[in-house]
Amino acid sequence: MAPGAHLKLQLIVLFLVVAIRPNAGQQDNATTIDSYSRLVAPILEHLNDTLQLHLNNLRESDNLLVKCLLQQTNIPIVVSNDMSVTKSVFVSKLLHHFLIYDTVQELEEQLYQFSDTGNFYIIALLHTIEEEQQRLQQIMQTIWHQQGHNRIYYIRQQAEQLLLYNPFQDSIVLVQDAFSYRRIYANLHGYALRAYIFDSVYSALYGDGEKQQVLRVTGPDANVGEIVAKKLNLTLNYVWPDDEFFGGLMPDGNYSGGVGRAHRHELDVIFAGFFIKDYLTTRIQFSAAVYMDDLCLYVQKAQRIPQSIVPLFAVRPDVWLCFLLVGIICAFIWMCLRALNLCLRIERIQEQQLGSRKDVHYLSTAWRIFIDTWVVWVRVNIVQYPPYNSERIFLASICLVSVIFGALLESSLATAYIRPLYYRDPNTLAELDASQLPIYIKHPAFKDDLFYGHDSEVYRRLDAKMMLVGEGEDRLINMVSRLGKFAGVTRSASLELSDRRYIQTHKVHKIPECPKTYHIGYVLPKPSAYLEGINAILQQILAGGLLDFWIDEMKERAKMNIFQYPEYLAELNASRWKVFTLKDVQLAFYALAIGCALSAVVWLLELWLK
Ligand SMILES: *[C@@H]1O[C@H](CO)[C@@H](O)[C@H](O)[C@H]1NC(C)=O
Repeated sequence: MAPGAHLKLQLIVLFLVVAIRPNAGQQDNATTIDSYSRLVAPILEHLNDTLQLHLNNLRESDNLLVKCLLQQTNIPIVVSNDMSVTKSVFVSKLLHHFLIYDTVQELEEQLYQFSDTGNFYIIALLHTIEEEQQRLQQIMQTIWHQQGHNRIYYIRQQAEQLLLYNPFQDSIVLVQDAFSYRRIYANLHGYALRAYIFDSVYSALYGDGEKQQVLRVTGPDANVGEIVAKKLNLTLNYVWPDDEFFGGLMPDGNYSGGVGRAHRHELDVIFAGFFIKDYLTTRIQFSAAVYMDDLCLYVQKAQRIPQSIVPLFAVRPDVWLCFLLVGIICAFIWMCLRALNLCLRIERIQEQQLGSRKDVHYLSTAWRIFIDTWVVWVRVNIVQYPPYNSERIFLASICLVSVIFGALLESSLATAYIRPLYYRDPNTLAELDASQLPIYIKHPAFKDDLFYGHDSEVYRRLDAKMMLVGEGEDRLINMVSRLGKFAGVTRSASLELSDRRYIQTHKVHKIPECPKTYHIGYVLPKPSAYLEGINAILQQILAGGLLDFWIDEMKERAKMNIFQYPEYLAELNASRWKVFTLKDVQLAFYALAIGCALSAVVWLLELWLK
C-alpha cells in the first residue's frame, strides 16, 4: 500500500470517528431515554400531579433519567436544588418528590426525610448491586414502621427496575403498570387495622367495660366494616372508645373523642357515621358519603281534641266556611231567578191545593226562599216546590251538591272517631318561632350547627332562643314529652330508631321542616393509605343498596322496641281499637238539647206576643 493511501485511510477513519462518534453517543442516549421513559411511565400515569426534582449538582442534571423526566409532557415538573424535602419552598399539597442517591447507604442516612405527607417520593438509586436488595428491603420496612407509609417508588437505574414495597407481605414488588400501588392495598393479607366504633345511631358496641375489651359490634355501620374487612382481606382491631364519642376541639386546644384519635393518628379508620363538616382539624378526612341525616326539632305533641267537640273538627274550617258560603250564595241565586221570573211574567205552574198567593210581599218571598234553600242544603225535603220550572231545576242541582258535601262530612266524621284528633302542631320553623318556646340543647356543637350563619330573621330569632342545658338525670326527649314548654333538637334518625316509642304513642311531634341536612361519612386520619380501597368497597355497598337495606331493617326492629316499655305499649294498644260509646255521640244530644231549648223560648215568645 502506498504511504499516501495509508494516510488517506487514516484520515477517513479519523473523519469517521469524529463524525460518527457523537451521533452514536446520541443514539445510545436516545435508546436509554426511551427505555427510561417506559420505566417511569407507570409512575407518571399514577401520580398525575406536579413532581419536584431535587437536584443537588449539575452532574445530576446530566443524568439520563432526569433528562427523560424533563422531556415528558404528562405532568408538570418543578426543579430545585434544595435537597431537603421537608422544608421545601413549594408548600403545595400536590407535590411529589424526586430524589437521586448514589448508593443504598446514602439513602439510609436520609430516612427521616420521608415523612408521611400524603405525597409520593421517587427515589433513584444510581449504583446498586443485586446483593443490596436485602438491605433495600430493610430500609423499606424501616420507613413503613417509622413513618407509617410506603408511598415511595424506588428506581434502580442501572438495572432499570421500578420497585414498590408491599408492607403486608413484607416483599418487594416489581412495578408493571400504574395500578401496582393500588393493588397492594386491595389485599392486606390479614393486616390488623386499628378501627374504632361506638354507640351511635347506626352502630352499637358490646364489650367488657372493666377489661376495656370490645366483644361485638352491631348495626349497619359495623356491617359495613365487616364487608370492608372481608373484601380487603384485613382484620379489624376495635379499640375501646372514649366516653366522648364523636368529640371535637376542646377549649384547651386538644381534640377529644373519635376526632381526637384520628387527629393524633392513633387509628386507621372509624366506622361510625360522622356529619361531614369542619371539625377544625386538617389531620382527618372523610370516606365517601354513606347516608344522610337531618337535624330536627321536636316539641310536645298538642293536646287531643275532646270527644264532645270532635265532630266540629272533623273537617277543616275552610270546608265549613265553604259550606256556609255556598248556602248563602245559592239562596241569592234563587232569589235572582225568582225576580227574573216575575219581571218577565213567566207562566206559573198551577197547583191545585195551594192557592196562588200572588199578593205576598217581596220581602216575605225572599225570606221563604232563604229558608227553603237551607232546608234543601242540609238535605231535608221542602214543603212546597217553587212554581217555576227553572227554579225547580236549580233546586235539584243544589240537592246534588249537598249530597256530595254530606258524604264528605260523614266520611270525615267516621275518620275522626277512629283516629284520634289533635290540636294543631307547629309544622314549620316560623310556627315554632311564633310559639315562643325556648329550644334546649345538650351538645354545644348544635349551637354552631343549627341556625348559625343564616340570614333569615326566623333563624336568627331561633338561634337566640337556644339554651344549653346540663346533662341531667332525665333525657331531654322524656322531659319534652312530659312537661312540654320547650323544644328539643335531635337527629331525625334517632326519632325513627331508639326514640320511636315517643312518636308511636303521640308524645312528641317532630317538626317536619328541619333546619340542617348533613351527609354522613366515616373518618380516617389524613393522609391515609387505606382511603382509596375503603371508598371503592363503600361505593359498591352503596350501589348494591346494602346500606339502605340494613338501615330499613334496623328501623323495622326499632318499631318492636316498644315491647321493652310496658307503659308505652299499653298506651299504644289502648289507642289501637276504638269502641263506640255514648260519649262519642254527645255532641248530637247537645245540639238537640240546644235546639229544643231555643224552640221552647221562641214558642213562649210567640204565645206571649200574640
Ligand atoms: C388473605 O390473607 C391471608 C393471610 O392472612 C392469606 O392467607 C389469604 O390468601 C388472603 N386471601 C386472599 C384472597 O388473598
